[in-house]
Amino acid sequence: MSKKIVVITGSPRKNGNSFAMTDAFIRSAESKGHKVTRFDAAMMKVGGCRACETCFKTGRACSFDDDFNSMAPAILEADALVFTMPVYWYSIPAQIKGVIDRIFSFVAGGKDISGKEYALIACCEEEDMSVFDGVRIPMERTAALNKWKMVGEVLVPGVLNVGDIEKTDGCRQAAALADKI
Ligand SMILES: Cc1cc2nc3c(=O)[nH]c(=O)nc-3n(C[C@H](O)[C@H](O)[C@H](O)COP(=O)(O)O)c2cc1C
Repeated sequence: MSKKIVVITGSPRKNGNSFAMTDAFIRSAESKGHKVTRFDAAMMKVGGCRACETCFKTGRACSFDDDFNSMAPAILEADALVFTMPVYWYSIPAQIKGVIDRIFSFVAGGKDISGKEYALIACCEEEDMSVFDGVRIPMERTAALNKWKMVGEVLVPGVLNVGDIEKTDGCRQAAALADKI
């Protein structure tokens, strides 16, 4: 069955490791007939949540109008959400954290975002898999609270520079992730 997949990236490096895995995922998902909409958060203007709780009261997801409002309809309609990012200081990069925080607008605005499929693609320099905890755990808890169904995680350690991902099987794993959606 063809599904609507929204992919949200968090790296500012267009030729970087997480983008290479993102591209591999998208190619694979599209070849299976899924419709993929991609948002590169680091190339867009998305601030944090102001917690004003006026979500959807002005006709838009967020009363503070920035690029989140252009993502919101696609997120709301999506069957699957895929987040891709590097680890920054053991945590989620600021560039994509604003998007994740603003997902609160659906909750406060009374929109049903439950039942979506959810996947994570991430990479980091260090070899220790616990480095991913600061990305993986908040994302898994966010997914659980929103009643999203986890379909898979691709977590690739040991990649620092642009191109390092090619020395791993990260892109192959990212392509295989599309089989689970
Ligand atoms: C600001 C910043 C913070 C980083 N913090 C970490 C870190 O805490 N742990 C780690 O293993 N790698 C860290 N890295 C390395 C990146 O995760 C790594 O280079 C990754 O491959 C970048 O992915 P990208 O090419 O998709 O941007 C950091 C890189 C930057 C630029």
